[in-house]
Amino acid sequence: MRKKIIAGNWKMHKTNPEAIRLAEQLRKKLEKNPPQKSKVIICPPFTALSVVSEVIKYSSLELGAQNIFWEEEGAYTGEISAKMIKSAGARWVIIGHSERRKYFKEDENTINKKIRLALQNKLKVIFCVGETLEEREQNLTKDIVGNQVEWGLKGITPAELKNIVIAYEPVWAIGTGKNATPEQAEEVHAFIRDILDALIEDNVGETVTILYGGSVKPENAEGLLAQPDIDGALVGGACLKADSFYKIIQAGEKVF
Ligand code: PGA
Repeated sequence: MRKKIIAGNWKMHKTNPEAIRLAEQLRKKLEKNPPQKSKVIICPPFTALSVVSEVIKYSSLELGAQNIFWEEEGAYTGEISAKMIKSAGARWVIIGHSERRKYFKEDENTINKKIRLALQNKLKVIFCVGETLEEREQNLTKDIVGNQVEWGLKGITPAELKNIVIAYEPVWAIGTGKNATPEQAEEVHAFIRDILDALIEDNVGETVTILYGGSVKPENAEGLLAQPDIDGALVGGACLKADSFYKIIQAGEKVF
């Protein structure tokens, strides 16, 4: 049985007092009604990791960061290392988010280096892939996603893959309010499993948790999460309020 995960990517939102408030609200909701079927991860900005880590210390919530640098340490002004996020309480890290690819020109090689470094530091990875609208319209979805998975996971062993969760996030669905239909998402998720079988090891694809991300909201979560190959969600906008994020967690509880 694959692990089910609902993860919240806070992106560049929340000052520390706001982050504490959101984490407290969520913790209280989950304490009252603990999810039985899924793990819940929150990924605040770097600056709020330590304070949020304190808030969720004795709860079932897990903490992730949104990025790391690809070297262990050194003269890299403005960057944050794997060890730093770990020491701030993070156990997870999002790597390869499309906003990193787009605004910070992260390519497959950079992403692969970050994934390897995260794993060396015993962090768990949420590795994001997804095509743009143009690519989808040109029927290139599988080429693009296949390529991202292949190069992003280059050199990764079946044992290491156990610490990687993949998030399929079509770029055209992120922050646009326009989600992939459950069928569109399901098709790509199933394809990613085939790619993993071909690239890493026979039958390994069915063991990997694959999340869908891109305009997941309380209103569409159930339909998406009910698909056989969708093991959870990576949520942006709708995770910034405890209420809507909690509703997505509940949708998972209903259909997982
Ligand atoms: P969104 O973001 O839910 O706001 O579309 C998802 C993501 O970028 O992970």
